[in-house]
Amino acid sequence: MRFDQSDRLRTKSHRVIPGGSHAYAKADSEYPQLSPGFISRGEGCRVWDVDGNEFIEYAPGNRSVSLGHAYRPVIDAIVDELQRGVSFTRPAEIEVRAAEKLLSVLTNAEMVKFCKNGSDATTAAVRLARAATGRDFVACCADHPFFASDDWFIATTPHSGGIPKTTKSLTLTFRYNDIDSVNAIFETYKNQIACLILEPARYEEPQDDFLSDLKQICYDHGTLLIFDEMITGFRWHLRGGQAVYGVDPDLACWGKAMANGFSVSALTGKRRYMELGDLSTESQNLFLLSTTHGAETHSLAAMMATLNAYTTLPVIETLYAQGQKLSDGFKNLIAQHRLDHAIDVIGRPCCLSYCTKDSSGQPSPVLRAVFLQETIRRGILISSLVVTYSHSDDVIDQTLAAIDGALAVYSKALTQGPGKYLVGPPPKPIYRR
Ligand SMILES: Cc1ncc(COP(=O)(O)O)c(C=O)c1O
Repeated sequence: MRFDQSDRLRTKSHRVIPGGSHAYAKADSEYPQLSPGFISRGEGCRVWDVDGNEFIEYAPGNRSVSLGHAYRPVIDAIVDELQRGVSFTRPAEIEVRAAEKLLSVLTNAEMVKFCKNGSDATTAAVRLARAATGRDFVACCADHPFFASDDWFIATTPHSGGIPKTTKSLTLTFRYNDIDSVNAIFETYKNQIACLILEPARYEEPQDDFLSDLKQICYDHGTLLIFDEMITGFRWHLRGGQAVYGVDPDLACWGKAMANGFSVSALTGKRRYMELGDLSTESQNLFLLSTTHGAETHSLAAMMATLNAYTTLPVIETLYAQGQKLSDGFKNLIAQHRLDHAIDVIGRPCCLSYCTKDSSGQPSPVLRAVFLQETIRRGILISSLVVTYSHSDDVIDQTLAAIDGALAVYSKALTQGPGKYLVGPPPKPIYRR
């Protein structure tokens, strides 16, 4: 497998794009040297790089492409809508249909505002909570890696350059499944916390009624509970983690899989809060979420076609079933290679990942790079184990055969040192929580 065209583009891209990519998760810093730098096209669960190499891909589009690349009914809906224009001086009629459609699926929500990226929605949710409560402090879950590319959240990461100290001081953190850490911030910041924001779950499931206790504590303190359903939405369940765990938040944020990779996100919530975004209300505490491209017609058409697929086909069931096959097969291979101490499969079948560990049991980015390199050599691009509706049984079998080969090398790298097996320098991934 050769990457000559990718290597040429890599040099160019780093000259014109900081980090060589517009999303850090896709950047060279996350991948071994021997990897496809640039993709030229995708179909279903397969992609082809600029050198013509073919790969089975996992977690496409940072988990936003959940049906598969170039999924025909979604493409047809977009092409049809594009003929009529994308944006006008007044709202397009599709905005009403799309809002009604989404709310018919997300039955807990009473109103919706569309935007483009997940960050637009989470940041708007935080702003709305501040407007509704008149409070400045917000709290996010310290065990969840990403909520927004905006200051209120980035301030809590090690990459907080350019963010004023005052902004930083207003974002508190609490731990998942640790109700004491939640009580502690409410004790210190009595009547000052506007909202708590978290993913309903990530790789760790909620324990001991954590989510319902959180909701009660928020209610007792007049604080809004916000669920970031960017990953859990349209994956854990059509209606996200809140449907799985039976806890209804005040506001929720959706994106990613909602439009099979096209750019639409949504803030949904209870009418009494969402109406604060209506300039005709009497309230003094209006909140603003207004974007030029938020309701582009073709993205809303993509969302409606994606929701049609979800409501008429066994999409979620397939994500669980194929994820389960992958997880069972991977775990068997780990046992066969006697690597139980050195690599783990984690998460729900619909949203799996893996952890690579060195001989002392510590997370090992360099061993992860060896695993990635060896699966790439065998035609699999597997930064995590997140399947799409297009991952068929054959694809899972092909993946497991590649993993088998990769684990044989991984095992040697573990005992003899990864340096002997990794081509090029180890990647330098962005912070991981
Ligand atoms: C849980 C979660 N929330 C919010 C975001 C931000 O979404 P976006 O990158 O679309 O702004 C992400 C992005 O990866 C995410 O994983």
